[in-house]
Amino acid sequence: MKVLVIGSGGREHALVHGIAASPCVDSVVAAPGSDAIAERATCHPEVSATDLEAVVGLARREAPDLVVVGPEDPLAAGLADRLREAGIAVFGPSAAAARLEASKAFAKEFMARHGIPTAAFRVFDDLERARAHVRELGGPCVVKADGLAAGKGVVVCDDPAQAEAALQEIMGARRFGAAGDRVVIEERLAGTEASYYAICDGERFVPLAAAQDHKRARDGDRGENTGGMGAFSPTPRVDPVTEKRVLEEIVAPTVAGMAAEGRPFTGVLFVGLMIDDAGAPRVVEFNVRFGDPETQAIVVRLESDLVPLLEAAARGDLGGRRPPELADASVCVVLASGGYPRGYETGLPISGLEEAESVPGTVVFHAGTRRGEDGVYRTAGGRVLGVTARGATLREARERAYRAAGCIHFEGMHHRRDIGAGLDR
Ligand code: AMP
Ligand code: GLY
Repeated sequence: MKVLVIGSGGREHALVHGIAASPCVDSVVAAPGSDAIAERATCHPEVSATDLEAVVGLARREAPDLVVVGPEDPLAAGLADRLREAGIAVFGPSAAAARLEASKAFAKEFMARHGIPTAAFRVFDDLERARAHVRELGGPCVVKADGLAAGKGVVVCDDPAQAEAALQEIMGARRFGAAGDRVVIEERLAGTEASYYAICDGERFVPLAAAQDHKRARDGDRGENTGGMGAFSPTPRVDPVTEKRVLEEIVAPTVAGMAAEGRPFTGVLFVGLMIDDAGAPRVVEFNVRFGDPETQAIVVRLESDLVPLLEAAARGDLGGRRPPELADASVCVVLASGGYPRGYETGLPISGLEEAESVPGTVVFHAGTRRGEDGVYRTAGGRVLGVTARGATLREARERAYRAAGCIHFEGMHHRRDIGAGLDR
């Protein structure tokens, strides 16, 4: 089989790593890919993931047996539809199904229609009405830009004054452009967060894994929001009883509801959860693609081949398939540039990559690096590397990931020291 992977980050490096290891796969092509991905795949750096015309052109020329799409933007813009029209099998939702992530108002109204547990909400496209609503609520709430805002369009507010300020920024100053012309205002939920992944073929699903990421820059979940400073899988927060509830109360009705509404969901359904003290799961958000850096953590746990599952899902044929076999636990520690998530320098040489990968069960995924003509990798982004290790326990995985991270150096490098900590069973 030939597989084409769309994207260029740590998530896509992990997907390429998992896909290239499959005995069914002869070759992997990536667009645009990265220097690190180029060690396992033929890359097309001239093809941007969001240039639908260019991606479809490449897919026609390469004629892959399967396309796997990493990021949400091309999915929301209809890349999977265009590929399917060209007769190419694709693991990823249509634009109509990607609305679950691309429009928070759509997702909330969909959940209301299908009785899927989530925070109470109202949708507004008028700033003054939205303001009046948060004043009426009088307490904490969450203000969300409707559209895609690169994970930055959500403001968790303690009181109406904060909510009004958020509304002014999103709707008044249009910080996220048209993505904020509509907002969702919702009840602020209490509990602990986790995420759950299922592979879907439009009608059926196969459970994949639970995971948890760490979005804040500093230890103890303090500091600024980032694209993700680490992740681990599974999470003790999703115990077998909670997992059963997530599958029955959320994943099954979502897949069935999308099919019933003529928007069959094909691809990975990534459910952001809030789990209350009684273990009841509610949906905080849906994503329609693999998480970054959760995918890095999930891929190193794989003990069976993921590719036949992705292919069966793309062909609408998951019937009778079993979930993949997974190692017990994994931890991904992100090594970031000095200054990230604010300004940072790039082009700094990285040392110790080979030593890091000699730690048992460890793979280093590249999120933002470039390889010079001298063969040396240098930093090229805020999040630089995802040092990812599997283990028989979360503790072993964490110990290995941090031992490997300790081998790597670049000027200004920083990382959290508490990824997956404090949760051991
Ligand atoms: P989202 O992009 O919708 O996942 O929101 C980003 C983050 O905001 C989530 O990971 C939560 O930490 C927080 N959040 C979103 N919605 C709520 C809610 N209804 N109650 C409490 N926290 C929330
Ligand atoms: N780690 C969260 C995300 O990929 O959106």
